[in-house]
Amino acid sequence: MEDALRAIGLEHSNVAQLCCNNGRETVSLMNLGARAATGFDQSEAFLDQARELARTAGRACRFVAGDVHAIDAQYDGSFDLVVVTIGVFGWMPDLARFMAVPARLLRPGGRILIHEEHPVANLFEPKQEPPLLVRHSYFRDTPFVGENAIVYGDGPAPRVGPHYWFVHPMSQVIESLIGAGLAIERFQELPDNISTTAHDALAAGRLLPLSYLLQARKSL
Ligand SMILES: C[S@@+](CC[C@H](N)C(=O)[O-])C[C@H]1O[C@@H](n2cnc3c(N)ncnc32)[C@H](O)[C@@H]1O
Repeated sequence: MEDALRAIGLEHSNVAQLCCNNGRETVSLMNLGARAATGFDQSEAFLDQARELARTAGRACRFVAGDVHAIDAQYDGSFDLVVVTIGVFGWMPDLARFMAVPARLLRPGGRILIHEEHPVANLFEPKQEPPLLVRHSYFRDTPFVGENAIVYGDGPAPRVGPHYWFVHPMSQVIESLIGAGLAIERFQELPDNISTTAHDALAAGRLLPLSYLLQARKSL
């Protein structure tokens, strides 16, 4: 990811991160040379952490709360780069609707850089034996329903009621970019596990794509 960002060149750029969570990557974008960085997320609690982190790091990032689909029109056409990283597309029931957001936020010639989990990972149950037993269709069209909170560590997760994880095959990601008028410049499938340790067994042997980098550009 860092190499891809350096290849694009962040110097003097105005960067947005969609679904930025606690803002650690938004802050890193400024550490890599961005002139300004704005993180958007629906969670006020995560954005409080993000503001605290940015203060500690001495980086003047801006954090905006709300549903990404409803980002205010004042931001339209203002960003040189929009970044989306691991764990965002699963929240999105409709990728075409989601991709319309970076498409309007980018200035003409601006880019989107996506570093996400590869949908192949959804074929398998976490921590199952054997790890590579296919349990779900790659073309599954219903979301996974979870009952426990999503936690980053391996500790206990409290029961929070139903939440949904939407599965999008690679073709859907690519088609949604094309549909939003964004021209693909780079697509790289990678064997690296960028998710939780639950995927470590899948990553062993580096047999499967577990993540990808996808870069696209808005026309001038
Ligand atoms: C799993 S986190 C991953 C974010 C980031 N890649 C990271 O690693 O920290 C997903 C984030 O998306 C946010 N999110 C999900 N749906 C959203 C929506 N419709 N609008 C804004 N934020 C959303 C959640 O609040 C959460 O912080």
